[in-house]
Amino acid sequence: MTHPAIQLPTLIAHRGYSAAAPENTLTAVRAAHQAGVTWVELDVQLLGDGTPVIWHDADVARCSNGRGALASLTWSKAQRLDVGSWFGDRFAGEKMSSLEAMLALLNELEMGVNMEIKVNKGCDPIALVDRVLPEMLATLPPERLIISSFNASALTHCRQFASKEQLALGVLFGSVPKNWQAPCEAIEAFSVHPDWPRLKRVQADAIHSDGYQILCYTANDPSAFHSRWKWGISSVITDEPAAFKRFLDNH
Ligand code: G3P
Ligand code: MG
Repeated sequence: MTHPAIQLPTLIAHRGYSAAAPENTLTAVRAAHQAGVTWVELDVQLLGDGTPVIWHDADVARCSNGRGALASLTWSKAQRLDVGSWFGDRFAGEKMSSLEAMLALLNELEMGVNMEIKVNKGCDPIALVDRVLPEMLATLPPERLIISSFNASALTHCRQFASKEQLALGVLFGSVPKNWQAPCEAIEAFSVHPDWPRLKRVQADAIHSDGYQILCYTANDPSAFHSRWKWGISSVITDEPAAFKRFLDNH
């Protein structure tokens, strides 16, 4: 048996189309779809009351008109935040998305998602996975879902919920470590997600020849990235999918 039959796209919009709309919002995912992108990368975490939301940081200061830790918020408090104005006036009134609303939108648009289990400081990876994974598995077909994380406990716990055939798992690395194979084998990973400038050719070759897909994050300069495609990279996770698309159409 093998992994789900995922048709990996060349481009995955990072936090939605985050160069065009406030990151990790429903609007950023609609923007990616309008730009012709079929997959997005998003981050999922829990509020203090246990509600799963699509959010990157441990607090709301950078991407909202409020302050404070995500863990201090309830859903009703979070819904009072404006998470669009920081990015641009025309996004005023954008609300933080729940996981539930985001999954519904992804299904409406028939998009794929690389959902990153974001284990920020103080977060319990097991509780996070327990709360979010069943909902994702119940809502999205396995061909449109890759779960990734930097956190090994989160990934191991995900694998306990679903077999290799039922769920594609991706291992996120900053620099690819010497022993990169161990965490990948431990969870029967589908893919390896390296920070692209730190990936070395010899590592890409080894990862590729071991049969893992390589999804590089976060590349925003298509000409700087261009020489890497021949390293066996399947997908680029980018804030700038339209710029990448234009460049690739011309090269
Ligand atoms: O999943 C790729 C990338 O999103 C990992 O880093 O900090 O942007 O979530 P970050
Ligand atoms: Mg992420």
